Amino acid sequence: MNIGIIGAGQVACAFARKVIGAGHTVMISNSKGPDSLASVVAQLGPNARAVSKEDAAQVPLVLLGVAWQNVASALSGLPAWRQQILIDATNPFDGTPQGGLVDLGGQTSSEIVAQLAPGASVVKAINTSFMSNFSQEPQRNGMRRVLFVSADNAAAKNTVALLFETLGFAPIDLGNLKRGGAIQGMGAPIAGHDFFVPWPAPRSFPFGLPQEYLNEQQS
Ligand SMILES: NC(=O)c1ccc[n+]([C@@H]2O[C@H](COP(=O)([O-])OP(=O)(O)OC[C@H]3O[C@@H](n4cnc5c(N)ncnc54)[C@H](OP(=O)(O)O)[C@@H]3O)[C@@H](O)[C@H]2O)c1
Repeated sequence: MNIGIIGAGQVACAFARKVIGAGHTVMISNSKGPDSLASVVAQLGPNARAVSKEDAAQVPLVLLGVAWQNVASALSGLPAWRQQILIDATNPFDGTPQGGLVDLGGQTSSEIVAQLAPGASVVKAINTSFMSNFSQEPQRNGMRRVLFVSADNAAAKNTVALLFETLGFAPIDLGNLKRGGAIQGMGAPIAGHDFFVPWPAPRSFPFGLPQEYLNEQQS
């Protein structure tokens, strides 16, 4: 699969290395243009290509890996989304040295990303992991490192979960962008923790979910 990446920093490159290692190709982009990414693509190797963010956003699966204060500009001026998957790895830090969080007015950050990328199938993922953990081998002693996924589009969420499984991770489905996005949001208890589960593992609670939860999933 050819995967688009908006952002070319820590998350973008860690993700690129993982998917390239699994046989995919990446088109990576930033705000300064492809020429500024020569050393980045040289490090990622022949399966990485530097492109404009407009080109990166054209393919069926795209990763968003920019700081919160740049999310709106990164998503502006892109070609219309045609239901392609947008993996939102961002966290709403306010950009201050103290690492405060932006007040999102009761929305989750991925709900806001979805509003800024109308027509994209947004899947919240990767944001809870430090890249120092994400970059390591995800399988040890019969266990797999967990990556959480939340989305309003079940098919998109399944595609991302399958991709993560092929990379060796254990995807855990937290629900939609509102509920799941809040559970895996920055400041919530699981963010930053490095979870492992015995593999194979069910993607969601294996004994049936409360009706209230199922209703929310369908709304
Ligand atoms: N680092 C982690 O361990 C980690 C873990 C989980 C989640 N996150 C989250 O993931 C996001 C990215 O973090 P990071 O650590 O990868 O940040 P980073 O290393 O600072 O990289 C950000 C990238 O975004 C690019 N960028 C900025 N404005 C852009 C625009 N308008 N269009 C396209 N690209 C743009 C920057 O390149 P130019 O300035 O050259 O355009 C840079 O390559 C953040 O929201 C962060 O909270 C980080």
